[in-house]
Amino acid sequence: MQRSECPQLFGREFGADPYPAYAWLRENAPVYKAELPSGVAAWLVTRYADARAALADPRLSKNPDRHSAAAHHSGRVGIPGERGANVMTHLLNIDPPDHTRLRRLVAKAFTPRRVAAFEPRVRELTAGLIASFAGRGEADLIHDFAFPLPIYAICDMLGVPREDQDDFRDWAGMMLHPSGKRGGVGRSVKRMRAYLGDLIHRKRADLGDDLISELIRASDDGEHLSEDEAAAMSFILLFAGFETTVNLIGNGLYTLLRHPAELADLRRSLAAGEEELLASAVEELLRFDGPVELATWRFAREPLELGGQRVAAGDPVLVVLAGADRDPRRFARPDVLDLRRRDNQHLGYGHGIHYCLGAPLARLEGRAAIGMLLSALPDLRPAVDPDELRWRGGLIMRGLRSLPVQFTPSH
Ligand code: HEM
Repeated sequence: MQRSECPQLFGREFGADPYPAYAWLRENAPVYKAELPSGVAAWLVTRYADARAALADPRLSKNPDRHSAAAHHSGRVGIPGERGANVMTHLLNIDPPDHTRLRRLVAKAFTPRRVAAFEPRVRELTAGLIASFAGRGEADLIHDFAFPLPIYAICDMLGVPREDQDDFRDWAGMMLHPSGKRGGVGRSVKRMRAYLGDLIHRKRADLGDDLISELIRASDDGEHLSEDEAAAMSFILLFAGFETTVNLIGNGLYTLLRHPAELADLRRSLAAGEEELLASAVEELLRFDGPVELATWRFAREPLELGGQRVAAGDPVLVVLAGADRDPRRFARPDVLDLRRRDNQHLGYGHGIHYCLGAPLARLEGRAAIGMLLSALPDLRPAVDPDELRWRGGLIMRGLRSLPVQFTPSH
């Protein structure tokens, strides 16, 4: 089936299933200038090899202020509610050498060892959430499960006291489901930032063994994170690690429920106490329908050629991870869900210097959530026709608004 024109991008049908449009782009216009819903034009890169090269290309900057008037004026490049002097400097909007320094400092605090030690707490949180709805026989897996787990997990890790964590749940909920009120998301961001700034100030006087204390301690040849930098860093850990992980769990469970044979295979292996299939399944779910559809913004520092197209200085470039990860040039049978896929070097966590810092935590949460839920509820099934489910709008992320399910109640 060859269409001669680019299928409609960013409409409702596209939101439910963007993959046919990305396949068309990959074959016919692998670097394509599209008009985004905000009115800004940006280059979409959809082939795996081009995408991987673009993610590692130093000629593409993350800093919109210096490189793109279009992006600056669009007001759509950063965290909601951020404008002008209010914009935070964080890992996803800076380039080396500032990025190198900040990333080195945070990597000292956010270590794989710290994440591994956090596993029992993630499992405890997951078990608590499952217990909260297991007796009901029905649940919305986004609202009741995928949404609260990452927010409680990262709050715990950062050292936000338990009694304040429900405030974060409310603020984060506002970001996922903005109530039509103008400025609601911006206000939630502001409250979170103010809270974190205050918490850091208090912790400086009384350091503990949480991640914020570790960020404050982190030093590099005598250089310390300033209080503002530590606040921006805590915020970006929350912001980058929240909706992404909600969608890993949500999209992952949705995909499994739509693939009964693969789901049955995974259940059998979980029942046999094997963990290997769960690990490769979570990677494949990320490749197949990952949370980050488009990597965050990049801007050409200078005129350059990408996939045969001339990109002007300042032009925004969006790397389509969801398109690259279905590229038949890189993956055999890319539209087939293969939980045992080998050599699965997907781009779901990005690539290059901005490669996801939180990948070990995301993997831990994804495995705990999917593995424990399937083990606890053996007859989990969708409560509505999956084709009727609605996807959240938004450019960068891909995720469901709700995922209603039914199962035999257990106590
Ligand atoms: C960066 C994906 C979870 C923290 C990224 C990038 C991707 C990504 C694609 C690169 C963006 C770019 O190059 O434009 C994901 C996915 C997740 C996830 C799919 C869940 C399944 C997390 C978690 C955290 C986190 C749990 C932290 C708690 C970060 C940070 C960056 C980042 C700080 C910026 C790194 C840098 O610029 O150096 N993530 N992420 N992410 N992620 Fe994640």
